[in-house]
Formats: sequence, C-alpha cells, structure tokens
Amino acid sequence: MKPLQVGLLGMGTVGCGTWTVLKRNEEEITRRAGRPIRITWIATRTLERAHQATRGAKGIHLTTDPEEVIGRPDVDIVVELIGGIEPAKSYVLRAIANGKHVVTANKALLARHGNEIFAAAQKTGVMVAFEAAVAGGIPIIKALREGLTANRIEWIAGIINGTSNFILSEMRATGAPFATVLAEAQARGYAEADPTFDVEGIDAAHKLTIMSAIAFGVPMQLDKVYTEGITRLTREDLRYAEELGYRIKLLGITRRASVAGSANSEGIELRVHPTLVPAKRLIANVEGAMNAVLVKGDAVGATLYYGPGAGAEPTASAVIADLVDVTRMHTADPEHRVPHLAFQPDQLSNIPFLPMGEVRTSYYLRMRVLDRPGVLADITRILADREISIDAMIQKEPPEGEDRTDIILLTHQSIERQIVDAIAKIESLPTVNGKVVRIRMEELN
Ligand code: HSE
Repeated sequence: MKPLQVGLLGMGTVGCGTWTVLKRNEEEITRRAGRPIRITWIATRTLERAHQATRGAKGIHLTTDPEEVIGRPDVDIVVELIGGIEPAKSYVLRAIANGKHVVTANKALLARHGNEIFAAAQKTGVMVAFEAAVAGGIPIIKALREGLTANRIEWIAGIINGTSNFILSEMRATGAPFATVLAEAQARGYAEADPTFDVEGIDAAHKLTIMSAIAFGVPMQLDKVYTEGITRLTREDLRYAEELGYRIKLLGITRRASVAGSANSEGIELRVHPTLVPAKRLIANVEGAMNAVLVKGDAVGATLYYGPGAGAEPTASAVIADLVDVTRMHTADPEHRVPHLAFQPDQLSNIPFLPMGEVRTSYYLRMRVLDRPGVLADITRILADREISIDAMIQKEPPEGEDRTDIILLTHQSIERQIVDAIAKIESLPTVNGKVVRIRMEELN
C-alpha cells in the first residue's frame, strides 16, 4: 500500500529520535498502521545534523525552509518539533489550512493557542495529535481521552516536569544546592531552552492546562493556572518534610471542587506548586527525571501512569504513536474520529476555574520564633480565629547559644485565603522572625 508521507519540521533531539525509531521498527509499525509511514521531507536549520542522521536513506529531501514542506501536495502529515510559539504557530495553522494532519510535541503552543488550532483543524477536517506534548513517552493523552472515557474524572495530580523532579530528588538525596543540580539537569538535556520554564513551573502549567481540558471537557485556559516553582525551596524544608513522613514534589493538580459556601456550584482547580505528599504514596517515590500522573476517575478509582517524560526515543515513541493513529484514521469521516479534547467540540463546558484563594488544601508552615512562653499560644490563636485546625507540630531545639527556634505546623484542610490572612498576621507578631514558609500538602488518597 502507498506509504503515508511525513514532513518533519525540526531535526533536534526528538526529530532525530523519531527518525531512528521509525526506521528501526519500520516493519512492526507498518503492520500496526496498515501501511508504511515514511519521512520524506525534513526542514531544519542544521542541515549537517540531518544529513548525518539520515545518511544513505533514499527518497528523503532536506531543506532549511519549513514552508517548502508545508506547501507540498505529497506531504500528508506535518510533524512540528520546532517548539515555542512563533514561527511554530504559523506553520501549524498553514499546514492545517493546506489540509495536512499535524502531529506536535509543542505543549506551550497548545496551552496558549490550542483552542484556535483545534477550531481550524475542525473546519478543514484534519487531525491534530499531541501525545508527545505531555509527559513525553507516557501515553497519558490516550489514557485520558480514550482509556478512561467511561469515567467522570475527579482529579489529576502529576509530576510532569522531569527537570524539577530531578532537582528535588538530587537535593534530597545528596544535599547539593539548587544551582549545582540545575546545571547537572541542563547538561543531561532534560531542561527547556529557557530553564526558568522548568523551575518556575511554567512547563508544568502548559502540560496541566492540556490535561485539564481533556479531563473536564473545557477549553484550554493557561491564564487560569496558579503557578509557583521550586526556586524558593530550601534543603531545610526538604529535610523537615522527610522527618514528618512526607516528600516535596512539584505537582500539577487539577480537580473538580465544590465552591465554598455553595453546595451546588462547581469549579475547577488548576495549580502547579511544590507539594508535600506522604512518603508512602507511590508518586512520592518517583525520582530523577521520571514523570508520573495520578488520575482519579469515579468508576476506576485511582490509576497511575509512570515513565520517562523527556528524551529522544521516549518522546519519539509518543510522536510515532500519533503518526500511527493518524494513519489508521485519516480516511475516516471526521465525525468518527476521537475529538481533540475528548469531548465533542460543541459539548465543551464553561464550568469556571476556581481562584487560588478559594482552593481548599492542607499546609506545612515553618516559622522562626523567639523561644519564650506565649509565642505558640499567639500563633495558634491566629489560626483558630480563622478556623484553621492544626494536624501536627514540631518544635526544634534552639541551636546552642540562640534564643530562636523553628516551629513547623501541619494544618488540616483550610481555605487558601484564610491561610494567607493568617500568615500575614503571624508575620506581624514581634516574636516571629522573617517570613513564614508555606508549602501546600495533598494526601492523594
Ligand atoms: N523540560 C521538560 C522536562 C522536557 O523537564 O520535563 C519535557 O517536556
């Protein structure tokens, strides 16, 4: 049968991985797809690298001009591996307008402009597939969109940035400082071109936006994500968390929650932040650059997806899975294909996102205080006045010759705006030194 012809835009790490895996497993992939899938065009800024990767291959054309690939009538699928917003967005929209199916690993592009891109694809009847955009090699898009389709999804919590997880794992295991471990993650090639995307939670926010849209059937709304990274975490807090039986992970969390004070109205939580997770949970033991996504469905219960979230061949695995899906479905009537966001496009819901102040969760609070009678009573009164209940507490011995010590409090579930208010009040006490460290906690059970 005539091969489906693929044009690759970008021949970096993932592009080379896609070429290699497609060649190596050609025979099995063809048996699965029903017809051969051939990369026939590659647009890249680094022709030398592409020449080396594809050397000796017949029927392959290299160019530095992506427009040449997008405009060719014999290219059926365009694979966008350029990353970033522009020019990737223009290429994707033009490929769609030219009637090409698109496979992309571009999480930033989809989180920001997915609604526009899917609407364009809907109009021209083409598919836009994006398994590689979230959690690299883990087939989480497939799981959410198809495998769990019977469920009302209640929540998702994921370690979806390998760089941050690598940094937190190394800091905990070796006690190395943040900057040293970040440099190591960059050297290993996990980090984004701009590593602030990793350590400030932006990359995780992109991926969470995509998962939330699919889980709840809502449009992509990146601007609604509360985002806090790992740059302010200290080794002390990692150690105290450990003493209390927790690990700190950068989690992306999205949840259907009832709005405080209104039994009938629902909102969606959408947040990325460092989180204390009980050390006994499987997800707390995901170490290094690995990713894991925990999904709670009403019928199935909790399911956990684990694997490499980055890297040449793991990401290529997801790109090629999409190529096979597109190959199998490209002659199908567009109405009979799996909808981009799992729900039929006219069935997306406008359920609102919950502002962070309305989110209900538990907290780890660390404060440095004068070691004298009445200090703890003042703090607990401030908490009690706001109906914040304490679950556990440790007070450290003051270091030799010092009169100040650390108190760590774990709270029961409280509303975020009450905690913010209590922290401001505690910080204003003359017996409390500096800022209160606040890290959210999730039981995930
Ligand atoms: N920079 C990303 C990470 C790569 O560290 O997870 C995969 O999206």
